[in-house]
Amino acid sequence: MFTNTALQGRRALITAGASGIGLEIARAYAGAGARVLICDIDGQALEAAASQLPGSAWTIADVSDESSVAALFEQADARLGGLDILVNNAGVAGPTGPVETLSLADWQRTLDVNITGQFLCARQAVPRLRKGRNPCILNLSSAAGHLGFPGRSPYSASKWAVVGFTKSLAIELGADGIRVNAILPGAVDGPRIRAVIAAKAQSSGKPLEEVARAYESQAALGRMVTAADIANMALFAASDAALNVSGQELVVDGHTQKLS
Ligand SMILES: NC(=O)c1ccc[n+]([C@@H]2O[C@H](COP(=O)([O-])OP(=O)(O)OC[C@H]3O[C@@H](n4cnc5c(N)ncnc54)[C@H](O)[C@@H]3O)[C@@H](O)[C@H]2O)c1
Repeated sequence: MFTNTALQGRRALITAGASGIGLEIARAYAGAGARVLICDIDGQALEAAASQLPGSAWTIADVSDESSVAALFEQADARLGGLDILVNNAGVAGPTGPVETLSLADWQRTLDVNITGQFLCARQAVPRLRKGRNPCILNLSSAAGHLGFPGRSPYSASKWAVVGFTKSLAIELGADGIRVNAILPGAVDGPRIRAVIAAKAQSSGKPLEEVARAYESQAALGRMVTAADIANMALFAASDAALNVSGQELVVDGHTQKLS
């Protein structure tokens, strides 16, 4: 049964938990009884987030850096005493522009954080998860992980990679009882996307409402999703209610069929 104690006693590590979707997932998990460790590269944001998550632990880590990830999992051992849930949430937007204008450094950085970071964390997590209870990994992909996204090719490529990584691990780890799923959010409403919309309206000379409407109408439901929508899916997917859900693309995007 799915309840508000759905994660009672479970131990969860959430990467990039200092803001946005990661913080919302941390809030949902702590509220459902989990012991939570969040990491982020932004120490100030981490401290602010921790004040909203009483009883939770936090540590600075860069998921794209091998030694930083090794230290992160030592923290997980020390602070949580083991691991049941890894949420590979850290991700960067990457550069915007036609492919011929993009730098190799920007391409590389996008892949380093968005997919290599998930690899580095999964590699550390798996031996620990083997000893966990209903162990699982959740990898944050995107609607751009199953659709093309013109002007955002590094981001889209990295998020498709997340889906391939997820499906491969789900098969590889199934015999160990470790479930692996990807979550594919659509555009998440909030200050960040509103700023993007405002900037687009200004640069194109189009009215703000028109640009906002274009974003919303990408989804069949005619609205953007919220960070809480994603946290709800992450809560369900980590809970015992999802014991037989693995290897899936869990799409939360109001049924988005085209990104532009
Ligand atoms: N917001 C959206 O519309 C949306 C849509 C689809 C998918 N996603 C995905 O969901 C995840 C979370 O997105 P968000 O919008 O909440 O992000 P965000 O930009 O709000 O927050 C990202 C956090 O990641 C941290 N971070 C950046 N690089 C890091 C690194 N190398 N190591 C550790 N932490 C790092 C930042 O400091 C920040 O706190 C990402 O993987 C993103 O690609 C977001």
